[in-house]
Amino acid sequence: MILVTGGAGFIGSNFILDWFAHHGEPVVNLDKLTYAGNVRSLASLAGDERHVFVRGDIGDVDAVGALLSEHRPRAIVNFAAETHVDRSIHGPAAFIDTNVVGTFSLLECVRGWWAALPARERDAFRFLHVSTDEVYGSLGPDDPAFSETTPFAPNSPYAASKASSDHVVRAYHHTYGLPTLTTNCSNNYGPRQFPEKLIPLMIVNALGGKPLPVYGDGRNVRDWLYVKDHCAAIRRVLEIGRVGEVYNVGGDAERENIHVVKTICALLDERRPLADGRKRDALISHVKDRPGHDRRYAIDASKIKRDLGWRQSESFESGLARTIDWYLDHQDWVQRVLDGSYRMERLGHREPA
Ligand SMILES: NC(=O)c1ccc[n+]([C@@H]2O[C@H](COP(=O)([O-])OP(=O)(O)OC[C@H]3O[C@@H](n4cnc5c(N)ncnc54)[C@H](O)[C@@H]3O)[C@@H](O)[C@H]2O)c1
Repeated sequence: MILVTGGAGFIGSNFILDWFAHHGEPVVNLDKLTYAGNVRSLASLAGDERHVFVRGDIGDVDAVGALLSEHRPRAIVNFAAETHVDRSIHGPAAFIDTNVVGTFSLLECVRGWWAALPARERDAFRFLHVSTDEVYGSLGPDDPAFSETTPFAPNSPYAASKASSDHVVRAYHHTYGLPTLTTNCSNNYGPRQFPEKLIPLMIVNALGGKPLPVYGDGRNVRDWLYVKDHCAAIRRVLEIGRVGEVYNVGGDAERENIHVVKTICALLDERRPLADGRKRDALISHVKDRPGHDRRYAIDASKIKRDLGWRQSESFESGLARTIDWYLDHQDWVQRVLDGSYRMERLGHREPA
């Protein structure tokens, strides 16, 4: 079996569903259920014995040690993190606690347990750390895309905390021989993303006829990766990635934020026209820019394509249309996030508040 951390979050939940669509292999899912964890995203797995959900913190040495001894995972995929740049600006401490200290604590636990495994299990074991392109900093309009050898230059507390965790993962491979793999991917989008991030926020607000706040001039560029393509990349890296290596994963889909928002407006106008006939792009309002806002990210994914044969299957346009359709079809999921009731839910049962 494999141990997935942060599996109730956006990418983690998509990864677990995608995993079961391809494997029968069980998953233990360790998630602290911060505001970003939503077990409703995994509701289709209620009663499925392949999925064991454990509420807990990657920084809890006793809980992680007990899970490792009980389940003896052949691999760990580490998604658990604080992930929202704006939150990292207003409250960086949680980002240091989970992304830096938590990842260190998890690695330290895993190292002790892994070192005592029989040689065959030790060699076959993998620790896959999921990270971000934000560790590389910001690009000018004509700079080449980030490659795996681009020096780190993180600009937000979030990016700095992820860069730190990447360094610790690297050190555990080089110093102790822990069989690690690291992926640095671009902005993901798709089903089950918490509506504080650009794409789901704009979909939810535009559906409700609410203002669409766009930072600054809206011309910041991100490279967009459909979450299912990211999940396929992680499966591939886990299966045949070279131990100790870093793989960049991107969607070859650089778009300005304002273009993303206008495309969402146009797709929603087609599917659900506003009753008063207004076009939704009239809801766009430019707001004061985020401090230290990186201008452009772009990923050079040629290494994972060449060495591991991975390719993205969605274009930005097809992925965005799928995403919008998912949100339209899952208004109950959105409603429970908006009214906060998702935090009361547990897999298969409810816990008292
Ligand atoms: N979303 C993106 O566009 C993107 C892009 C690049 C990299 N990443 C990375 O991918 C990973 C997953 O991102 P996401 O968007 O799914 O994040 P998310 O915020 O949606 O989910 C994070 C999950 O981790 C859990 N968690 C937080 N702290 C924890 C802790 N101490 N112990 C256990 N669980 C904890 C949360 O409850 C939540 O379920 C992160 O490491 C992130 O840095 C995300």
